Amino acid sequence: MDGDAHAGEGKPLADGFLRFLLPAPKPRPAAPSAPARLVPPHRLIAPPLPTPRLRPEERLLIVPPTRPDWLPLPSPRSPPSAPSPGTAAKPRPFPPRSEPWTRDAGRFVGNGNCATGRSSAAFLANGRRTGFQRPKAAAPQKEKKAWVAVEKKDEDAGDKVRAVVSEGYSSRDEGGVDVEEQLELESEPERGGHRRLLDREDNVKNSLAMAGNQECPDKGGGERPSEHLMSQSNQAPRFQSRMRRWQVECRHDIDNFTPGLLALYESLKPSEEHKSKQKQLVDSLAKSVSKEWPNAQLHLYGSCANSFGTSHSDVDVCLEMEIGTASTAEVLLTLAEILRNDNFENVEAITSARVPIARMSDPGSGFSCDICINNFFAVANTKLLKDYAQIDQRLLQLAFLVKHWAKLRGVNETYRGTLSSYAYVLMCINFLQLREPKILPCLQAMEPTYTLNVDGTKCTYFDEVHQLHDFGAENKESIAQLLWAFFRYWAFHHDYRNDVISVRLGKTISKQEKNWTTRIGNDRHLMCIEDPFETGHDLGRVVDRQTIRILREEFKRAAAVLQYDDDPCVTLFEPYDYEL
Ligand code: CTP
Ligand code: MG
Repeated sequence: MDGDAHAGEGKPLADGFLRFLLPAPKPRPAAPSAPARLVPPHRLIAPPLPTPRLRPEERLLIVPPTRPDWLPLPSPRSPPSAPSPGTAAKPRPFPPRSEPWTRDAGRFVGNGNCATGRSSAAFLANGRRTGFQRPKAAAPQKEKKAWVAVEKKDEDAGDKVRAVVSEGYSSRDEGGVDVEEQLELESEPERGGHRRLLDREDNVKNSLAMAGNQECPDKGGGERPSEHLMSQSNQAPRFQSRMRRWQVECRHDIDNFTPGLLALYESLKPSEEHKSKQKQLVDSLAKSVSKEWPNAQLHLYGSCANSFGTSHSDVDVCLEMEIGTASTAEVLLTLAEILRNDNFENVEAITSARVPIARMSDPGSGFSCDICINNFFAVANTKLLKDYAQIDQRLLQLAFLVKHWAKLRGVNETYRGTLSSYAYVLMCINFLQLREPKILPCLQAMEPTYTLNVDGTKCTYFDEVHQLHDFGAENKESIAQLLWAFFRYWAFHHDYRNDVISVRLGKTISKQEKNWTTRIGNDRHLMCIEDPFETGHDLGRVVDRQTIRILREEFKRAAAVLQYDDDPCVTLFEPYDYEL
């Protein structure tokens, strides 16, 4: 084992972190030749399987890869009628009833207008309902709500512009309009039109003001918690002005939903029994591995080790071993054979992935487990996330809720063009780094106390996080406010066209700076999330022309649910149902 090659100058890899020592090594012949140089892994996501093994309930939640059955073929766009200057366009139902293929992100079950007709009690992760009561301030309204889309007239905008804006992502992306152009329009409401989700029951004028369609007065808003502006130190003046325009107050009763959200968060945390089953799985895996590679060491990575694991998370294991002249693929094929002989189920070696893995499931616990070889970037970023999680508990709360939301809304499938759990956690960290006052620091910008050398790249940051427990104390935002602001940020504030989010720098940086503006065929960076250590790796690269729309529509839906719905703790997590 070449421990020095990876453990670097800082604390050694085996420093109690995620290390499971295998049984005492047996004597074995010396390795025939020098250790192979491993190419640094870039990602851990396997390529699409021909028939993904999904549990029946998961099948309901997947995002269609390209054009799903429920999307009709694109039809030619008819020119929209231009509203008279200075007036808002006539509101139209959202989603338009004439477009049944629309993702339906604006239809809310909690308002009684959803076909699934679920009751208003919030769902907990264990399938039970929360005991929390619907807050009095948000007493159920009997009237049927409808959600409408409102286009804002822009005097400079031509017909084409309005046509683009009015369509959302519903299906017509192949209609000849450049996706980046559309993203630009959506993210720059002052230059183009824009669409807002509004409650028809409200006076439209008031609603427009509430939704930030008009300049928000600077006053503190009385007792209403107002949305904090993100740190703007690195923003261009034009962007700052846009951010001011979108400064919106969240609903005055938002904190009534904090107990429900926290109850949901608690229910998502893995139980002690779950953790002990995970440990049993890792122990039996260690036994199997030691038969062939007695010096190998197991590191847990991913959510089972970074504190972001829920009761639905799988087990991710990295084997640290010398593989000599063998290729990683050969090692994984041998490993798969061993695991099959040891009665693990559904064993397969996925060797064509950028980060090859062996995958299997444990018959006892039913847990699924991914095993990779010498992927130390993953081990390093696992520790980084774990350390961030210890600074402020609101990160864990936010990330659990966002991950849960993403799974239920079908936007957590990298092989279908949406984002990984890891990407969502980075989005949460960066969001909390950008709050004002900040809730999280930027650990990689501080004096390094931890270093792991991975194939020449120094993964280094300040890891003495026990010194930072009060870091976010000045910011008093509740989880309900933060969740709302998170979705608003990704729905309306983030500059998709120009910006990359960077946990490494604790801010957003420009795509130009990363040289992520180039287009190679359809392979564009539509949503950019920099990996904190493999900085050339964009975690948003999986997002394509269709899924960027799906994601943004879901962010908008989530923000609107939290802003206006009677029972957002239920409605927000309503599983996306393609049958609707
Ligand atoms: N990872 C990575 N680069 C990626 C994706 C993932 O380095 N592009 C590593 C990270 O260490 C991440 C781990 O792989 O924590 C597992 O990522 P993911 O599959 O997104 O899931 P989890 O974080 O494990 O979340 P969960 O299983 O709970 O969905
Ligand atoms: Mg995992």
